[in-house]
Amino acid sequence: MTNPSILILPGDGIGPEVMTEVEKIIAWFGEARDLKFNVETDLVGGAAYDKHGTPLADSTLEKAMNADAVLLGAVGGPAYDDLDFSVKPERGLLKLRKEMDLFSNLRPAQCFDALADFSSLKRDVVAGLDIMIVRELTSGIYFGEPRGIIKEGNERVGINTQRYTESEIERVARSAFELARRRGNKVCSMEKANVMESGILWREVVTEVHAKDYADVELSHMYADAGAMQLCRYPKQFDVIVTDNLFGDILSDAAAMLTGSLGMLPSASLGAPMENGRPKALYEPVHGSAPDITGQGKANPIACILSFAMALRYSFDEGAEADRLEAAVETVLANGARTADLIGEEGVEPLSTSAMGDAILAALAASV
Ligand code: NAI
Ligand code: MG
Repeated sequence: MTNPSILILPGDGIGPEVMTEVEKIIAWFGEARDLKFNVETDLVGGAAYDKHGTPLADSTLEKAMNADAVLLGAVGGPAYDDLDFSVKPERGLLKLRKEMDLFSNLRPAQCFDALADFSSLKRDVVAGLDIMIVRELTSGIYFGEPRGIIKEGNERVGINTQRYTESEIERVARSAFELARRRGNKVCSMEKANVMESGILWREVVTEVHAKDYADVELSHMYADAGAMQLCRYPKQFDVIVTDNLFGDILSDAAAMLTGSLGMLPSASLGAPMENGRPKALYEPVHGSAPDITGQGKANPIACILSFAMALRYSFDEGAEADRLEAAVETVLANGARTADLIGEEGVEPLSTSAMGDAILAALAASV
């Protein structure tokens, strides 16, 4: 059997800086754990535009479609702000997500104990928090027709349409239930069935899928606005939350911030299974290209490193190795290692991007 393949797309700004640390970690797993990957690197975003005049070359897209997992850094930056909309760096990422049909966006909100005081909420509320928001990513109000700004009489009207088919709801619900079985076995589905027909159908389909194939998983339903309140009040009540594209956008950002810095947040976007049984998959930190700190060695590589941990778990079925990597991150944080974004008032000396990567490598080495 050939080694599983990873396509690395470092992108722009701090993307390449944090990806360098991930590449060191991938190499470590190859040497120390005999987990060999075929790694290929290519351009996306502004970097691709500079070379090819497009933020995603066809050849890159083809590589992504055939890779067992794609790892992306970040795209965009001030140098590209004046480009035409059609070739903006972000279009490269959007096209990748769309062509790969990545319908299930996994956004963990996990609070490492060492960073609990960094949250805007009380330590008790967030310490040990470990929830996963599953956001539907390919449909809903961001895509529904009709849309546009039209003229009605003498005023303008802005229109967007929330539209969900049964099969779109079913596939993301399945992905949430499967995920819950590997975690705390609980799913809370969020919509607004009280005021939206698409929410009524959402609740019906989730309930049907559950009864048919996932009765062993505990299922609850919540209106998304009530869910937002519960996320702030007592987030530890949740395990997996599944919701639509719009609510998921907002709820996952809110949940993520419970845990502190943008530099800590990974994500995965999964699609349908390929022939080898692995889902099409894109892993990326939640943060952007951070032009304000680019080239200064200040970027926190942990979000990107934890994205690779998600790849180990969800693309390569290496849950124990994913646990090992997450534990290494936890260890260095517990030992006081901090990049600049993780330092509040206390005046600790910050680690550089590469020093943080090296600290995690050392913790990995000590784990075997
Ligand atoms: P951003 O996430 O790049 O930065 C926001 C703030 O967080 C900045 O102060 C930055 O220094 C800090 N930050 C972000 N990641 C960090 C890390 N790993 N370590 C330490 N500090 C970190 O968002 P912003 O400034 O709104 O956007 C900058 C550019 O990135 C724009 O061109 C935007 O379009 C693009 N962007 C790209 C995304 C992607 O590739 N998925 C997502 C969000 C923005
Ligand atoms: Mg958002």
